[in-house]
Amino acid sequence: MERKRILTGDRPTGKLHLGHYVGSLQNRVRLQEEYDCFFIIADLHMLTTKPDAKAISQIGQNAREMVLDYIASGIDPHKSKIYLQSAVHEVYEMNLFFEMMVSVPRLQRVPSIKEMAKAANITEIPLGLLGYPVLQAADILMPQANLVPVGKDNVSHVELTREIARRFNSMYEEVFPIPDVMVGDVPTLVGTDGDAKMSKTLGNAIMLSDDVKTVNKKVRGMYTDPNRISADVPGKVEGNPVFIYHDIFNPNKPEVDDLKARYQLGKVGDVEVKDKLAAAINGFLDPMRERRAEYESIPGFVEEVLYDGTMAVREEARQTLSAMKKAMGLAGVWNSISRKAEKTRKKREKESAQN
Ligand code: TRP
Repeated sequence: MERKRILTGDRPTGKLHLGHYVGSLQNRVRLQEEYDCFFIIADLHMLTTKPDAKAISQIGQNAREMVLDYIASGIDPHKSKIYLQSAVHEVYEMNLFFEMMVSVPRLQRVPSIKEMAKAANITEIPLGLLGYPVLQAADILMPQANLVPVGKDNVSHVELTREIARRFNSMYEEVFPIPDVMVGDVPTLVGTDGDAKMSKTLGNAIMLSDDVKTVNKKVRGMYTDPNRISADVPGKVEGNPVFIYHDIFNPNKPEVDDLKARYQLGKVGDVEVKDKLAAAINGFLDPMRERRAEYESIPGFVEEVLYDGTMAVREEARQTLSAMKKAMGLAGVWNSISRKAEKTRKKREKESAQN
């Protein structure tokens, strides 16, 4: 039997951070043995909020960093396909067909669209941004994916994908499986500043590619219990970002329990708690740094990964688009016109040659 498939990915807007890792990357790495995986570098989705030439000029470099982030995280480019969305033209066509299956009010109710517009300072939502989850449905359904591991903010997009797939299947023929969504262990990771969400634009992120010194500095500057003005004041552990990170990234549980106990009694300094956290995060990132350095040093490696992945995906896309057009009856329309045209032309030419 064929293996089930995963499709997921990210927009090439910059490097990935710890929030991406615990929210989604970890799941991708874990599942790549069990599933055939497709990882999209969604540059067309980037255009929905950043269509300017400057942003486009940075896609190449950002895509490169993303591939390295993936590989550093443990994604095996020999097992999984990593590809560039804009180089797979069939997806543009699929997107158009799916646009007929979703209403504008349905899209206006997708919460992330307003959030993305707000974050990008866009007051009037472009048609393309409103259609963001429709294009995402095209990505997911293109390789007929069964599972979509994403961050929490993308759950509503996968929900819409399921609706579109059901709609298509019932209007025409059963072409698509209905994909399931999967959210990571930590759906939203708090930022280093205590803000609800780690995000590169908010400047509260620890990147997977940060070096030891940068991590030390960021952790030293982390938001912690603001009422604790000196080391002998009992502090709060719950909801404290420093301890949230300890729980996630420090594998030494007895050390974490000891720090928590002393913190609550006012018997430990912030510096000790933070330095132990920085050491834990660095220990977590070290194997990623090694893998990154290894593959970064091979000339053309990243480009070949993307090239091979994109070529393989194009073949998948051709097959799905042709199955869609066949199911819709659209393939037959052009086929019969062109067949008839060729036939009558040939006949006429033959007759005029005889005369
Ligand atoms: N929407 C994703 C993001 O937030 C990127 C993306 C585009 C995606 N197409 C996808 C994710 C398909 C999962 C599946 O960056």
